[in-house]
Amino acid sequence: MTLQTPFAQIRDRSLFIDDVDAMDLVKKYGTPLYVMSEGHIRHQMQQLKDSFMDKYDNVLPLFASKSFSCLEIYKLAQEYGIGIDCVSAGEISIALKAGFDSHKIYFHGNNKLYSEIEYAIAHDVDHFVIDNFHEIELIEEVASKLDKIIYATVRVVPEIKAGGHGYIQTGHKDTKFGFSARNGIYISAIQKIIDSSHIEFEGIHCHIGSQVFDLYAYISTMHRFVNFAYEIYDKLGVMATKINAGGGYGIAYTKKDEPLEFETITSEIMNIIKDGYDKRGWPMPMVLVEPGRYVVGNAGITLYTVGTVKEIPEVRTYMSVDGGMSDNIRTALYDADYDGVIVNKAYERKDTKVTVVGKICESADVVVKEIMVPKPEPGDIFAQFSTGAYHYTMSSNYNQLPKPAVVFTYKGKSKLVIRRQTFDDLTYFDVNEDYK
Ligand code: LLP
Repeated sequence: MTLQTPFAQIRDRSLFIDDVDAMDLVKKYGTPLYVMSEGHIRHQMQQLKDSFMDKYDNVLPLFASKSFSCLEIYKLAQEYGIGIDCVSAGEISIALKAGFDSHKIYFHGNNKLYSEIEYAIAHDVDHFVIDNFHEIELIEEVASKLDKIIYATVRVVPEIKAGGHGYIQTGHKDTKFGFSARNGIYISAIQKIIDSSHIEFEGIHCHIGSQVFDLYAYISTMHRFVNFAYEIYDKLGVMATKINAGGGYGIAYTKKDEPLEFETITSEIMNIIKDGYDKRGWPMPMVLVEPGRYVVGNAGITLYTVGTVKEIPEVRTYMSVDGGMSDNIRTALYDADYDGVIVNKAYERKDTKVTVVGKICESADVVVKEIMVPKPEPGDIFAQFSTGAYHYTMSSNYNQLPKPAVVFTYKGKSKLVIRRQTFDDLTYFDVNEDYK
């Protein structure tokens, strides 16, 4: 059992999250249930503040909100003074609805639609992480139409391979994201930005991948980025006054994972940039980082009720729960590993190896590949740990399962943040129209 947050503990014959008994949450809100420890989220956001924002001048951490997006999280980000990375007009709309400062939103994405660019600019979002030539034209067109100036960082591919699974690597040469540095492609993009009248070039951005444990990958990327800054100046005569070093910081899902310290990564990043800029006698640029999983990943615990337990002699024991790949796609998609515990049997001997599966009509519907638990029975409550990032945001209604509720816990209390979907919600978007 690996609880990766001090905000949750096994004690008094149960699991307590921010001092709230998980069994009480089950009684109050039902299962499956996403529980997010606000204590943990605040702790991580405070960390971004203490070890980055307050430690260096002219820096800004962005929370990558694709990892967990809802009104409440944007309010928390705003409270801590951090910015956010949004990857669609949908995410931007939620952030704005939460009252988030539009000038601290950085708009990412490899295929921003005209309508999204228009929505963002009309709502005073003025920081764009530019991904491709087409986008430069769209932004110029919309910004001139709306008479706005857009500040651009240009996403450049460092050709570094990093990240927990092939699907979540983004900095290698064969990627759909950003401008290649080959044949001066990114230099032409920056030239195009300089030539446009409503976009101001500010700097460069990278994101090498997700669930990264390799410090050397960050170090090599930053060395390349300093060289990109030199090349930009030498070829175009402009200075990159902003460097966004991306996110991707790995967290521990099981005992096997050994995450890097946030401070270790950021101090390497800052040192390399400082050395590189000092060498040219340049002032330090503004530096941004954009972690998502690091902020919310270990804050999440999903509570499920156990149903069928099926033992196949000499093969495997399947323990089914009342959710599955509709609320957790990560095991099927990335072969991800998880830990967990049967809450109501937390102190019993773990003598049964099970595969935790969901109730979805697919063999890929695995929640936890293999885990030792006390002999499971229908009605037990299984808690899956570290489900705070890319679980709720990647959930679906597959097999028409209503999405679970999201509950926050903090200092011995709980509150509903997203209500459980109902059967009515499942037909909410259906319309009854005649052919015409
Ligand atoms: N910045 C950019 C440009 C990104 O594309 C991402 C994640 C992040 C920051 C934040 O990465 P993080 O710190 O959360 O690792 N669904 C996958 C992860 C996909 C990440 C996509 N981009 C998963 O569940 O592992």
